[in-house]
Amino acid sequence: MPICNPAARFVQRDGPRAGEASVRLRGPGIAAALALAAASAAAAPDARTAAAPQPDPVGEFLARHWVDPLPPQGAPPAKFSPLEASLDPESCGACHVQQLRDWKTSLHSRTMGPGLMWQFLLMGQDAANECMRCHAPLAEQKALMARERGWQNAPAAPPPSYVPPQLHHEGLVCAACHVRRHARFGPPARAASKGLGQAGLPHGGFTAEPAFEDSRFCATCHQFPPNGAKLDGKLLENTYVEWRASPAARQGKACQSCHMPDRRHLWRGIHDPDMVRRALQVSLQVRRDGGYVRARADLANVGAGHYFPTYLVPKVTATLELVDADGTVRSQLARRVIGREADLKLAHEISDTRLAPGARMSMEARFRGAPAQARGSYVRLRVVVDPGEHYERLFRSLLERPEKLPAGALPLLREALARLESGHYELYKLTRPLPAS
Ligand code: HEC
Ligand code: HEC
Ligand code: HEC
Ligand code: HEC
Ligand code: HEC
Repeated sequence: MPICNPAARFVQRDGPRAGEASVRLRGPGIAAALALAAASAAAAPDARTAAAPQPDPVGEFLARHWVDPLPPQGAPPAKFSPLEASLDPESCGACHVQQLRDWKTSLHSRTMGPGLMWQFLLMGQDAANECMRCHAPLAEQKALMARERGWQNAPAAPPPSYVPPQLHHEGLVCAACHVRRHARFGPPARAASKGLGQAGLPHGGFTAEPAFEDSRFCATCHQFPPNGAKLDGKLLENTYVEWRASPAARQGKACQSCHMPDRRHLWRGIHDPDMVRRALQVSLQVRRDGGYVRARADLANVGAGHYFPTYLVPKVTATLELVDADGTVRSQLARRVIGREADLKLAHEISDTRLAPGARMSMEARFRGAPAQARGSYVRLRVVVDPGEHYERLFRSLLERPEKLPAGALPLLREALARLESGHYELYKLTRPLPAS
């Protein structure tokens, strides 16, 4: 998130508004805050009406499960083999083959990339640990990072054998979501395996928790508390609250139903064209209007259970063009950006054209028909996605003044920018011939 972004503060430090209070990331008690957020999501029919506190086992489990900071796992049970004790995703994958294969293709396995790592050069241990709360939350990961960086409170002893030496660079690992004090927690077993009995299972079986099937499980990292960082009065990360007010929530479709279909560990999002095509439906009509031609494109968020897109980082650009028979663009008829745009200091919102669930926007243009017809022109709608636009803009501006960067930042920043640029793609290209006069 740029949001949580010391890079934004770094820009700020150089700018005219230097010294301004930096954005605060975390508010107190995410679980309590979420209860609040839920209660305020008036559009959701099941929003709790009033006073009387009701038992909320899911909320209570999540408050314990995601306590910040997470405690170390401690010594593994004596009966565990080294394989059962290991926190290495590869070890889990020895038995959970498909989850490992899927997770490796997901962004959850890449949450400690260069875009984050260069920012650690600007930070002390406490600030970095705040980032790691979502990007690599295990106590063992924070300890490894502290040793690597030579931070003051780094543990003197090397990590125990169940902690692989690279665990801090492996991102949001299996154990971060599933393992506490070496015990496994997961969703209730599938119907098929019910009654299996846990006695003989590896790692002492597991505790089934319905919280794993609940959107609040994801909200831990994908929703800021009500008092979290805002821009023009709107939270910088508001996915869960957006979801609460969506038709998907009313139909009982949790985040997992779209992002982990059949419990697959894929977590596809804005970086994946097939996933994004599920969210955005487009159509293009071209018709005669006297001596003119009218072109109209419609774009609708039919498939995302939150704003399209939910964060301010990605931008989706739709361009309507008049193209000649030989492929030259004769003229641009209209251009719209879908997204929430902010300045680099994250002080102002420039625009917010994101589409709420079910919302649509249209683009229209009118031009003289006859000359275009003579050239054999046609109308084209192109929709292009830049999943990391905000970061790209920020990183480019920082690279313009490399002398201001901390030592060692330059190669990481260049690598991060190259990765972002390679993520652009064309989502749709629709063409329509001009109707005969
Ligand atoms: C020696 C094999 C083995 C290893 C290693 C292993 N598991 Fe398991 N695990 C199993 C088996 C068998 C089950 C029970 C059947 C099932 O759900 O697949 C299970 C169950 C689970 C469940 C519960 C699934 C559910 O239905 O809710 C979770 C979560 C889990 N393991 C996570 C992990 C994680 C995380 C690791 C690594 C830190 C790991 N396991 C390492 C074999 C293993
Ligand atoms: C509340 C959870 C949370 C915290 C705390 C957090 N992030 Fe993030 N971060 C996210 C999420 C969620 C995304 C994915 C956003 C997306 O997909 O657009 C993300 C994405 C990023 C990205 C872009 C992806 C990449 O790897 O290049 C960077 C960079 C980043 N965060 C840096 C930071 C930094 C630096 C901090 C600490 C100052 C931090 N984050 C703290 C949740 C968090
Ligand atoms: C971001 C948190 C997260 C991470 C990381 C994660 N899981 Fe899961 N896992 C979940 C959730 C949530 C579910 C339940 C999904 C549902 O019920 O729709 C789940 C389900 C499972 C299950 C039960 C699957 C089934 O078909 O019943 C197993 C086994 C499992 N995970 C193992 C792993 C392993 C192994 C890894 C690492 C390779 C891993 N998980 C990484 C959140 C996570
Ligand atoms: C009805 C299906 C659906 C549900 C429910 C849903 N999503 Fe999404 N989500 C999508 C689709 C489709 C995309 C791709 C388009 C986009 O980026 O908005 C997406 C994109 C994302 C992204 C990519 C970043 C971005 O800026 O868009 C994140 C992160 C995300 N979802 C998290 C969540 C979380 C957390 C929840 C639950 C609170 C959730 N989603 C619920 C369908 C869904
Ligand atoms: C411990 C924190 C944490 C939890 C819990 C978590 N996520 Fe994430 N998630 C992240 C971070 C950090 C990223 C950013 C990865 C990056 O780009 O570096 C991310 C990325 C994603 C993306 C990819 C978005 C894109 O830009 O394409 C999706 C989708 C997503 N998460 C969905 C979920 C869902 C659904 C759940 C609940 C089952 C969940 N996450 C639970 C921290 C978390």
